[in-house]
Amino acid sequence: GGFFRGLKRTFYVLAIGSLGTYAYFVYQGRHPPDQLPQDPTKKTIVVLGSGWGATSLLKNIDTEEYNVVVISPHNYFLFTPLLPSVTVGTLDGRSIVQPTRHTTRFKTREVKVYEADCEYVDPINKTVTFEDRSEVKGSVSKVTIPYDYLVYSVGTENQTFGIEGVKKHACFLKELSDAEKIRARLIDCVESAAIKGQSEEEIDRLLHMVVVGGGPTGIEYAAELRDFVESDLIRWYPEVANKLRVTLVEALPNILPMFSQTLIKYTESTFKENSIDILTKHMVKDVDERDVLVKTPSGEEKKIPYGLLVWAAGNTARPLTRQLMAALPEHQKNRRGLEVDDHMRLKGAEDSVFALGDATATQFAPTAQAASQQGAYLARVFNQLARLQVLEDKLAAAKKAGADASELSGVERQIEKAAKIRPFKYSHQGSLAYIGSEKAIADIPLLGNNQIASGGVVTFMFWRSAYVSMLFSLRNRSLVAADWFKVFLFGRDVSRE
Ligand code: FAD
Ligand code: NAI
Repeated sequence: GGFFRGLKRTFYVLAIGSLGTYAYFVYQGRHPPDQLPQDPTKKTIVVLGSGWGATSLLKNIDTEEYNVVVISPHNYFLFTPLLPSVTVGTLDGRSIVQPTRHTTRFKTREVKVYEADCEYVDPINKTVTFEDRSEVKGSVSKVTIPYDYLVYSVGTENQTFGIEGVKKHACFLKELSDAEKIRARLIDCVESAAIKGQSEEEIDRLLHMVVVGGGPTGIEYAAELRDFVESDLIRWYPEVANKLRVTLVEALPNILPMFSQTLIKYTESTFKENSIDILTKHMVKDVDERDVLVKTPSGEEKKIPYGLLVWAAGNTARPLTRQLMAALPEHQKNRRGLEVDDHMRLKGAEDSVFALGDATATQFAPTAQAASQQGAYLARVFNQLARLQVLEDKLAAAKKAGADASELSGVERQIEKAAKIRPFKYSHQGSLAYIGSEKAIADIPLLGNNQIASGGVVTFMFWRSAYVSMLFSLRNRSLVAADWFKVFLFGRDVSRE
């Protein structure tokens, strides 16, 4: 009796303790502190973008010594690894975004955030021009501001290879609005296929979901789509859902080129079990409202009718990036993106511009992992530069006050140490991808044989907990967990907004 009473008491203490801690952090998250105002005597850092690179920088930088200004057309950070789940309503879009002000309001010194597109960078005169392109505008919408340092982290845009029909008819999967559009179109296709009198041929077309690109984006989207069909659509649309087909088109001989052969084979066999057709060595040449034109391995051209087309064929530099490259023609010649040195300094503007993430052409893959490590690195560089400035001011003051030689050389030694800035070093934590029916593949360098290709509850829970732990805030973690629980209880919502 005494033992169980003791156990019960321990349980209550732990439960109340955890709830109390949770409540404390929730309260903290909603009550940002007072901040120091911006100070015109301090240097200004302009950050372009609010994605992985920029947000990681903002999280880690000490703003006391700088006036930081953030410019981005989205006033939030988007957790892209979970974006494919939004396309079928496993997660609500709002659950995987974090308002940028939730990050900046907790910094020591005020950070200015402008929701606008940067449209021009002048690396010679050190200014940026940005424009409010939202639907609602005030009398001021275009502004030019100077910077001491620029952090360029605007990412990339979708590669369309100049195929006009792609922009017109396909859905991308990069922004939050893309995922929401896919979800609406998907339900639309199913509803239209169910209309009385629809011909078999038209039903086949409307229910043919084509994905272009066998990189991780295309694979994860196809996987989520299959899950949605199997666990929800079949139940609510029994008359049409079993006619839904998913086809993935890839130009190369195999999918997921960055993963090992074992993991590729595992994904291919999982897709086969889940009736997802993979067409490798098929290159999409054109797209119109109803068909995708592909070049088959034998060289002939074939039309594939589709209802929903998701274009996940990779990325290319944004026009702003190309324009910045054109401003530094001697130093920027790589069409893949901006060239930087090993300290993330932009070649040709080393003294004032840093570039990171997908916008750069480096030896690192264009991943969230690399961009966030670069953002954190750059924050450390700025923190070190601030310390250096403080020491230099101290030395100047000591000299002015006539300090003795030993005191001066002490400060000089500290300056010498602080001036040594280490280059960026990437640490690969592994790659992880969800491939459907609660299976995931992982390539983790820390593990002996480097690879996990498995299914079932354990891998699935590992995949989910890895992503939850990567989410930036308690708020997002709670929202994502609540969405998963909602889907577990009630299934996904099949209504169209
Ligand atoms: P982004 O995160 O793209 O941020 C760019 C920012 O710039 C955005 O805030 C944008 O609004 C802003 N911007 C755009 N134009 C302008 C302008 N003119 N002026 C100012 N700001 C501008 N990587 C992984 O490592 N693991 C994963 O599991 C993973 N999953 C992914 C899933 C999907 C569906 C996608 C699309 C990508 C995924 N990635 C993943 C890749 C990862 O998202 C990118 O590598 C990462 O976002 C790059 O970070 P970034 O800061 O360079 O760019
Ligand atoms: P990607 O560039 O990796 O893949 C695009 C694929 O589309 C390529 O395999 C290419 O051969 C194919 N393709 C291009 N044009 C084509 C055409 N006309 N017809 C047929 N196929 C065509 O792009 P993705 O998947 O968007 O990934 C971008 C980056 O984001 C990568 O670095 C990736 O590692 C990262 N990412 C990582 C994820 C993860 O780790 N789970 C998830 C999503 C993205």
